[in-house]
Amino acid sequence: MIDLCLINCKLSPESDLCCIGVENGQIASLKKTHIPAEKTIDVRGKIVLPGLIDTHVHFRDPGLTYKEDFKTGSQAAANGGFTTVLDMPNTIPPTNTAKEFQKKLKIASQKSVVDFGLHAGVGDLKEIEKIAPLHPASFKVFMDLLDNGVLQDIFQKIALLPGKNIISLHPEDRDIVNHCTSRLKSEGIMEPEDYARARPALAEELAVSQALVLANHYQLPVHLCHISSKKSLQLANMSKSLGCTVSSEITPHHLFLDSSCFLKWGNLTKTNPPLRSKSEKISVSELDQVDIIGTDHAPHTLEEKEKNVWESSPGIPNLETTLKVLITHYNKGNISFESIKRVLCENPARIFNMQKKGFLKEGMDADIVIVDLKKTGRITCEDFYSKARYTPFEGFEYVGAPVMTLCRGMTVMEDNQIFPNPGRHIYS
Ligand code: DOR
Ligand code: ZN
Ligand code: ZN
Repeated sequence: MIDLCLINCKLSPESDLCCIGVENGQIASLKKTHIPAEKTIDVRGKIVLPGLIDTHVHFRDPGLTYKEDFKTGSQAAANGGFTTVLDMPNTIPPTNTAKEFQKKLKIASQKSVVDFGLHAGVGDLKEIEKIAPLHPASFKVFMDLLDNGVLQDIFQKIALLPGKNIISLHPEDRDIVNHCTSRLKSEGIMEPEDYARARPALAEELAVSQALVLANHYQLPVHLCHISSKKSLQLANMSKSLGCTVSSEITPHHLFLDSSCFLKWGNLTKTNPPLRSKSEKISVSELDQVDIIGTDHAPHTLEEKEKNVWESSPGIPNLETTLKVLITHYNKGNISFESIKRVLCENPARIFNMQKKGFLKEGMDADIVIVDLKKTGRITCEDFYSKARYTPFEGFEYVGAPVMTLCRGMTVMEDNQIFPNPGRHIYS
């Protein structure tokens, strides 16, 4: 007898029914026939996807836990169908020393209900070689906060490390952002819809080009976070075709929303980089040119969001909206089922070196999300486990939603109820 068998599963909308056997938290078999098990879950013909992987979350723990913490953030992940998250280092203190990295590993191990990895920040360059043996998902660099000299030093230092080390980048050019922001401020501009002019697409395109040059020079893999401009994506893909190891990420808001949302939602849609106009942004039909959807789940309090355009905190919470929005677009015929799997499961696992994640195959972790393609409702932040109390997808009428999430065979979400589950560091 195995531990668990999920029966009447569909691996894709067109496929035949199958059974998934789970033993010791891993997928033991994928067969047409039922396998005797201690526990059986009848999926009743619903879709099963590999547990989603979010390569880009901000859980704010430690230091900013009034916005989110590793418990609520990971509960939001499980509620949205995510079983693995990679957390960003801009906490207080930042996760840019070996000591802070270890502290955050401890916090996450105690609080997370899903599996996790941590991106390391970069501060004192001497810490880079001390953090590397702790297996960060990547070294994350905010290009909007650094000058070129420091950036070069960081690449040089990381290139000398043994093994494969990824650099994740927030690609916005610091000088252009500062220049445009001060000019708008001095002109007294205060409307949320003008925010995109303070951080124009060119700032991103320039930073992307610079990142690609550095990646090529130092032969390092780079991951470009939250690409907002079509031209940035073209640059990334061009350099990929020349042999650079570069991966691209888009957020659900940069994919599905555009700058016109500022008129409706004001600063609730403020994010860095800003939402772009329809002509500048990457369109839904171009999703096959992007490697990963990362939610950039970046929760803040309503009070912080409701300040004026310059003071309002940038960031949008996304873990509990992403799959609903994507499946709805699948149901409308705008995106394929295969691309959802590619950008939220397979590519994140491949690009960020997760050997046991991202695929429903024998020997993989039994990370599974069951999706009801027909479940309907309206998105509302009132249903969030996240501490964030806003979403620009408020009122979105969805068709299709995650109804159960299993992390290494343990049910962590069923019908939007969360159960305790010890999340693990995936790179330990
Ligand atoms: O909008 C953003 N919010 N962009 C970032 O790069 C940081 C993030 C945050 O941490 O809130
Ligand atoms: Zn960023
Ligand atoms: Zn981010």
